[in-house]
Amino acid sequence: MHIMFVASEVAPYSKTGGLADVCGALPKELAKLGCKTSIVTPLYKCARDYFQHSTDRLNTTFETLSIPIGSEVKRAGVQTAKIKTSGEDVDVYFIEHEDYFGRDGIYNYQGVDYSDNCERFAFFSRAAFELIRSLRLEVDVLHANDWQTGLVPVYLDALYRSTSRVGASGFLEPAPRPRVNFGDSSNLFDRIQSVITIHNLRHQGRFWRDAMELTGLDWSLFTYDKMEFYGQLNLLKAGVVFSDAITTVSPQYAKEIQTEAYGERLQGVLQSRANDLYGILNGIDVDEWDPEKDSYLPANFNSKNFKVGKAKCKESLQREANLPVDPDVPLLGFVSRLDPQKGLDLVADLVPTLVEEQNIQLVALGSGDRTLAERFNLLKRRYPRNVAVFNGFSVELSHRIEAGIDIFLMPSRFEPCGLNQMYSLRYGSLPIVRDVGGLHDTVVNASDENIANGTANGFLFYWSEAEDMKKAVDWALHCYRDRKKDWYNMMRAAMSSDLSWTNSARQYKALYEKLVARRSDERF
Ligand code: ADP
Ligand code: GLC
Repeated sequence: MHIMFVASEVAPYSKTGGLADVCGALPKELAKLGCKTSIVTPLYKCARDYFQHSTDRLNTTFETLSIPIGSEVKRAGVQTAKIKTSGEDVDVYFIEHEDYFGRDGIYNYQGVDYSDNCERFAFFSRAAFELIRSLRLEVDVLHANDWQTGLVPVYLDALYRSTSRVGASGFLEPAPRPRVNFGDSSNLFDRIQSVITIHNLRHQGRFWRDAMELTGLDWSLFTYDKMEFYGQLNLLKAGVVFSDAITTVSPQYAKEIQTEAYGERLQGVLQSRANDLYGILNGIDVDEWDPEKDSYLPANFNSKNFKVGKAKCKESLQREANLPVDPDVPLLGFVSRLDPQKGLDLVADLVPTLVEEQNIQLVALGSGDRTLAERFNLLKRRYPRNVAVFNGFSVELSHRIEAGIDIFLMPSRFEPCGLNQMYSLRYGSLPIVRDVGGLHDTVVNASDENIANGTANGFLFYWSEAEDMKKAVDWALHCYRDRKKDWYNMMRAAMSSDLSWTNSARQYKALYEKLVARRSDERF
């Protein structure tokens, strides 16, 4: 079974958030489970930089793909790399187009989205098909991710398979329009099933309706039950309607997105696909995030011997952050995109009270929203002995923060899965999180009952309000200071949680097998 991931970000080549972590880690796990796995991703400037500084090799091929885009046909190069796993290697195909992808940012420059993002990702999505055709790859499942690749299921169904079966209605329909002329390649596409994973429903890839022209798809698809959304073209909606199965990154988020509160106006479409919608919790890369081996840390530790190592990490982080070195002061922190999604304004609201009443320290690492960054910078100026702020993106520092803090803050308004609370668990930094999405599925609240039965590993609050969050923080600080034994037990429980990809990858594999079996029933 050959699973091909189509993804606009893949760690370590390119990353703006958790999407990259997942698209870097899941294919490797599937390879370990015996699936043939490949990845198609753009050759951004940052990916080229990665290869310049790494021992990994980027191999040039002389393959040239012809990609129809609007009324033109544009050329794309293909370069390849391999990711080693304990199973088969994962093949990575980089789509090369300097004008589209050789830029400084992935989606935007200095916070402003590129105006041709629809064109760039329509081109990229279509390139996956031309790659399959050109290299005659026998793919069983094309796995798209988020709006950037929302056109993949549509192209498969509307242009490349020899018969269309519009996903939402679930029945086979005769092809309504002339298809791409494949010569003898049609079998390559008829065998393929499509999956789209929603990593974040807030970002849907909505564009001006005339962008339909760029996609090369027929205007007959621009209807409310397919690609149209309140007068605009909506790429994520299109992907959801046309794919054979939809997954999202936690069971709780799978439920939430079918409600008005979290459905981002797509709840109706998602409800109509409820039978094909699966919530599978992300894992984390337990090799990259391993406090026992992490080379970014000044000291290593594990769930049994953490006291000494963690204290060293804390001391060193306090120094690095220019805060007074004090083992007893509770050190709170976060690493995050600064985005309204993450609810960090609640943290900013609470800092004055927490500093003045509880003498906490806070270390913040984030990039994004400038107003929010400025709020934290002001807090740092007001409380230089308690607040440290790092503006920017730094993988190394993110590891040192996860290891050095006592408590991780993640008050998200919504959170499809969230990786940082899992990194925190693994590093024994107990998370305080809002009870939503993947946070609900990974953090077990420190209620008296859960503390007593040894399952508690963090703190949950329900309402997106500073007052509600404060209750959870006060409770956590009380446990940290006055219930040390319980605190250490919670750290042990957190550090021993199973956060690996193994279980989730098995669920994905079972889903692919089900889709492939369904294909055999229907077509062959
Ligand atoms: P999201 O994808 O919504 O941003 P996740 O928690 O799933 O949230 O994943 C975020 C990923 O990005 C994590 O790997 C996290 O460590 C990383 N990250 C976010 N902001 C920063 C930053 N400023 N510096 C370093 N890493 C960051
Ligand atoms: C998105 C979500 C985050 C999730 C990540 C990976 O960026 O915001 O919750 O963990 O994708 O799936």
